[in-house]
Amino acid sequence: MSRIKSSGEPAFPITRMRRLRRSSSIRDLFQETRVSVRDLVCPIFVQDEIDAPLNIDSMPDIKRIPISKLADEIQELIDLGIRGVILFGIPSYKSDNGNSAYSSRGIVQRSIKLVRQNFGERIALISDVCLCQYTMHGQCGIVSNDNVDNDKSIGILAKVAVSHAKAGADIVAPSAMMDGQVGHIRTALDENGFSGVAIMGYSAKHASSLYAPFRGASSSAPRSGDRTSYQLPFYNRREAIREIELDIREGADIVMIKPAIPYLDIIYQARKITNLPICAYSVSGEYSLIKAAAAEGWIDENNLIVEFITSIKRAGSDIIITYHAKKMASLLNNM
Ligand code: PBG
Ligand code: ZN
Repeated sequence: MSRIKSSGEPAFPITRMRRLRRSSSIRDLFQETRVSVRDLVCPIFVQDEIDAPLNIDSMPDIKRIPISKLADEIQELIDLGIRGVILFGIPSYKSDNGNSAYSSRGIVQRSIKLVRQNFGERIALISDVCLCQYTMHGQCGIVSNDNVDNDKSIGILAKVAVSHAKAGADIVAPSAMMDGQVGHIRTALDENGFSGVAIMGYSAKHASSLYAPFRGASSSAPRSGDRTSYQLPFYNRREAIREIELDIREGADIVMIKPAIPYLDIIYQARKITNLPICAYSVSGEYSLIKAAAAEGWIDENNLIVEFITSIKRAGSDIIITYHAKKMASLLNNM
């Protein structure tokens, strides 16, 4: 049974890994990817004109909260060690031109001000910049003659971004997927004295069926049609990389890939072509799939959350937006 040939050379390379892995301390030493609480960004839905939190049927344990509960929510995140939130607003009214999205008294603008006043620099404020929650038709841009008008839309999106910056946002995150939105917003921010506000481009946002629970959560489903004319097709990886390159040229400070788990190849490739921070948005459907299977007792919820989020980081993501943020943070804090 000797592995040594008479020459003294091993007949084949041998590895000790399986024997070494019997020891948990060795497994810890060899662990390549570690998620930190500081990598996580927690989405928050703030709804105007409600007094008590509302459950979201399609997203168990996630709520729309009134602005009166926002400070408590942020404090809870800070206590867990989380340092970033992304805010989504559900406004008191919708209109054709989405003007409740850029009003200084809008729900997101008031929310940003409140968090900034109460928490200063203790939490990074990312604001979602889009029109779908604010328009009657539910498309992400301005509709004229039954079409989403790209160039009109980016003008309005720039107004929304500037209104968020005025309120005190650190990072604006345009999710409408209009051509040129990052460059247009960059110019508008700079012209209004907000050159210090960063842009997180939803660079590779795919037209995905995994957004369905979110659209219920934020009342933002398109009334007719879908978003395939401006979101990316999931069959094209090179196109996703081209979109990332365009956002970088337009001045994005962070590039985002969305959804996360079915798109790890795109995260991995994005990591190779840019040294900018990469964010992955693990979307509502990724959350609800886990919650639903766990409720049936078919999978172990905690273990699967750790596996999914660690895999997103392993693929190359620096920042991870996830609805599991609180649960993941407490798991990490108790490890
Ligand atoms: C809309 C928007 C969506 C998400 C974030 N912003 C949905 C969509 O484009 O249809 C998805 C988030 C999620 O599913 O968690 N601009
Ligand atoms: Zn939208």
